[in-house]
Amino acid sequence: MKDSNFLKENNARHMWHPMAHPADSLANPPIIVTGGNGVRITDVDGHEVIDAVGGLWNVNLGFSCQPVKDAITAQLDALPYYSTFRGTSNDAVIELSYVLRDFFAADGLTRAFFTSGGSDSVETALRLARQYHKIRGEPGRVKFFSLKKGYHGTHMGGASVNGNANFRTAYEPLLPGCFHIPAPYTYRNPFNESDPATLAELCAAALEDEIAFQGAETIAAFIMEPVLGAGGVIPPHKNFMPRVREICDRYGILLIADEVITGFGRTGSWTGSRHWGVRPDMSCTAKAITNGYFPFGAVMINDRVAETFETDTSGKAAIGHGYTYSGHPVGAAAALACLAETERLRVHENAAARGAELFEGLQALQTKHDLVGDVRGGHGLMCALELVSDRASKAPIDKQTIGRIHEATYRDGVMVRVSGPNIILSPPLILSPDETAKIVSALDTGLAAA
Ligand SMILES: Cc1ncc(COP(=O)(O)O)c(C=O)c1O
Repeated sequence: MKDSNFLKENNARHMWHPMAHPADSLANPPIIVTGGNGVRITDVDGHEVIDAVGGLWNVNLGFSCQPVKDAITAQLDALPYYSTFRGTSNDAVIELSYVLRDFFAADGLTRAFFTSGGSDSVETALRLARQYHKIRGEPGRVKFFSLKKGYHGTHMGGASVNGNANFRTAYEPLLPGCFHIPAPYTYRNPFNESDPATLAELCAAALEDEIAFQGAETIAAFIMEPVLGAGGVIPPHKNFMPRVREICDRYGILLIADEVITGFGRTGSWTGSRHWGVRPDMSCTAKAITNGYFPFGAVMINDRVAETFETDTSGKAAIGHGYTYSGHPVGAAAALACLAETERLRVHENAAARGAELFEGLQALQTKHDLVGDVRGGHGLMCALELVSDRASKAPIDKQTIGRIHEATYRDGVMVRVSGPNIILSPPLILSPDETAKIVSALDTGLAAA
């Protein structure tokens, strides 16, 4: 490995960072992470911090998960690659599909289509939704509905259902036929409604209104995150997703759960859909499926959709979609080890307990720091602070101030993620009570330095 001077000198010179302005990455060089151990990471200067970002919502089991590392090494030795395109398969992925069927049985999801990550999973689900309706003889069902503030990755389809202008405007025109419903976001919404249950009803009514306007017979699917993540951690009221399920059923619209963040325990339940008692038609997963150690994902599919494809005799169900790395054996081996460890540790239970402590700690920070406009969480280890420069007007905080908060929090020993006016927290699910308290105290230090 090159020395630290070389790394600092060349940082962002010869690469463009995702989700950053190339000039900004040069002016404000990113933190160079060189090591990880447990829930901690170490930077190139030897500064060690708790990673309250959990990699990028994916390192649920921390950075030292030996079973996943061993499985990757063993699979590289046995078979480093083979494709699952028509005519071939590999042993690891077959075993994984069997294990996933059990893991997702309570969600009613029984078949897997493998991908290389979250954006791939979203793209796959959107495509399969259209194909499902074509097989069934409703080829006019091509539109997609989603939530404003939702994040569904950055492929053209995913960006089109994305509900945040940052990921859309520069890339327009996007896919035609995508329509967005107000999110159940109590802090800011067009209804000026702060009661979560009432807002959930209003958003559901907006969905029905848009369905009536577009015509149900033109709509393929509704995609939503069970708890909105990258858009600023927005947990809907418990009635919301069940209401969406009921509306989708009434109008023959498929419900796609984007569980790229919420799958595998983060919400305190094994899946976000299960958290709300909903069975989606398809579920997009990635990230924590391999603990972030290998780029991998799976779209899980329910029996109704699967049987439509599997019993087709017209030829319309041939899947003209897939990736070179769909069902990659190393990813599959990593996922098998990761799922076994995830279930053995029952990380959803720790996510629920530590998540409650974290949420409570953040609420206490709100009483102390005027900059904290809103605190969101209460559903496992995904929380956010929305910062404002003025509580009364809810004017968003400026970039410099939130940058100083980030820096001071980091100096005090905790890495957090800044996204617009939000500080987003998604630590590994193996977090201890002391580490949870440390995240809160470092944020306290950071906010005091604003
Ligand atoms: C809910 C959701 N869907 C899709 C994606 C895209 O996943 P990826 O970045 O692996 O393509 C993300 C990434 O954060 C996500 O949070």
